[in-house]
Amino acid sequence: MSQAAAVTAAELVVCVARTDTWKRNLKCLKDQLKAAEESGTRIPKAAWQYYNHLAPLMYDQGPCGVWGPFKKLISFFMGLSKPMAREPFGNNDMKLWATKTTALACENFMLAIRSFGFDTCPMEGIDSRRIRKLLNLPRHALIPMVIAVGKRRPEGVTLPRLRVPREWVVHTV
Ligand SMILES: Cc1cc2nc3c(=O)[nH]c(=O)nc-3n(C[C@H](O)[C@H](O)[C@H](O)COP(=O)(O)O)c2cc1C
Repeated sequence: MSQAAAVTAAELVVCVARTDTWKRNLKCLKDQLKAAEESGTRIPKAAWQYYNHLAPLMYDQGPCGVWGPFKKLISFFMGLSKPMAREPFGNNDMKLWATKTTALACENFMLAIRSFGFDTCPMEGIDSRRIRKLLNLPRHALIPMVIAVGKRRPEGVTLPRLRVPREWVVHTV
């Protein structure tokens, strides 16, 4: 859409968040833990409990996310007497979860690119529908951002760094 950062960038990296790959990823992590254990690394029992029981319970939302409201109700009552992890409840929470995970990877990516002497511009002003079609991504794939990568030009930095008051973002209790 003629955005300077997109038009002038050497590369555009499309960052994709998926809510449908957690089972595959979980199995992959468990296989790696098993291999580590077989080669002598002691895996804490809590890790096995998390990967075998808690993670499937947390991330499986059932067909069309129907288990979300039930999970919410159960955790409400269980949480009356003790603090506990609650979300994700349903498909929208899964989208949030996948976006968080991807955004962390994006930040790591941008810092790594910077450490090699290049620059980035994360962009949300994108046509996600067209990008999905262009890259043949599944319909439910989320695109939290597209990152322009290249070498900055001095005239490309248009504004000085702007700050909001510190007390708007930092609350000490
Ligand atoms: C959520 C979000 C969406 C953004 N989308 C765009 C965008 O579509 N196009 C663009 O040129 N900059 C976009 N920006 C701004 C740049 O990514 C960048 O934050 C800005 O240029 C300031 O860079 P600096 O923090 O390195 O000074 C977006 C920023 C945020 C936080």
